[in-house]
Amino acid sequence: MDNNRRPDNMARITTKELAEAFIAEQIELVRKQVGDKKVLLALSGGVDSSVVAALLIKAIGKQLVCVHVNHGLMRKDESENVIKLFEGELDANLIYVDATDRFLGLLENVSEPEKKRKIIGAEFINVFAEEARKLDDIDYLAQGTIYPDILESIKQAEGKKAVKSHHNVGGLPEDLKFELVEPIKLLFKDEVRVVGEALGLPHAMVYRQPFPGPGLGVRCLGAITRDRLHALREADAILREEFDKNGLAGKVWQYFVVIPDIKSVGVKDDSRYEGWPAIIRAVNTKDAMTATIEEIPYALLHHLTYRITHEVEGINRVLLDLTPKPIGTIEWE
Ligand code: XMP
Repeated sequence: MDNNRRPDNMARITTKELAEAFIAEQIELVRKQVGDKKVLLALSGGVDSSVVAALLIKAIGKQLVCVHVNHGLMRKDESENVIKLFEGELDANLIYVDATDRFLGLLENVSEPEKKRKIIGAEFINVFAEEARKLDDIDYLAQGTIYPDILESIKQAEGKKAVKSHHNVGGLPEDLKFELVEPIKLLFKDEVRVVGEALGLPHAMVYRQPFPGPGLGVRCLGAITRDRLHALREADAILREEFDKNGLAGKVWQYFVVIPDIKSVGVKDDSRYEGWPAIIRAVNTKDAMTATIEEIPYALLHHLTYRITHEVEGINRVLLDLTPKPIGTIEWE
């Protein structure tokens, strides 16, 4: 049997009971697979890797070694929250690597979107591989592969072209040969969330909006600079806070801020004030292949404009992106 194909008779995991049965089964399988050996996991803090981490902590405790790489393109407080939850609450064996300077150094003056993606993806593997080499007794690599990833690889193997080079850990260097542990590879995203909640992960983490591997790097358009990246992080935090407060967070699939590499003239305290525009994008979709625009109440848009332009240094305009997918992709790069 091809164990990368979901069996036709596999029941959809929709309830806590079904999730618990799945978890119990996977715990057994993982224990049988790895014995007393150690397992490495790149823990980004996204839903998939977090669910795998929580599942493996239950199955093998400290035999799981999580590596969280902060590439400097995370959202506000994101790495801190990963550490708080996994190290603080779940007692995970967690290695934190702040690689901000490495990534931002490599990205300096690089404005071509695919080149940026490739640099971020490759450097992620470099940093992760360096950490893996420091640990000499690891035999297994756990991954948060889910069924849509497998379907996507099948599609690509059949010769269909991807629109963007998405990055996930994979393609580790030759000297690092691990056997894979992929406990959620036959699950769809909605099932991963049900399993995550059954594992006791916080609702906000399990239902959080998707965040691309290259992070804010694909939203700080063109060549990334630290000041514009900082402005983006702050503006994005305001948008997320207001969506949470106004009941939109659970309703809108993905919402974020983009900052292009252009400045316009403004006025502040009676003086000329050149600044970047913050672009708000809020979309709904089922599968990310197409997307529609979520309407944001005008009062909230005015409030967001006020807060972002008054609280974030360097932003003097707020714009709204009304473009569906297609023609625009969800991310700008
Ligand atoms: P696009 O921009 O292609 O995005 O319409 C579709 C969805 O994929 C997310 N995205 C990524 N996810 N790694 C990921 O794991 C990536 O490199 C990546 N790039 C885009 C995007 O946020 C949207 O949800």
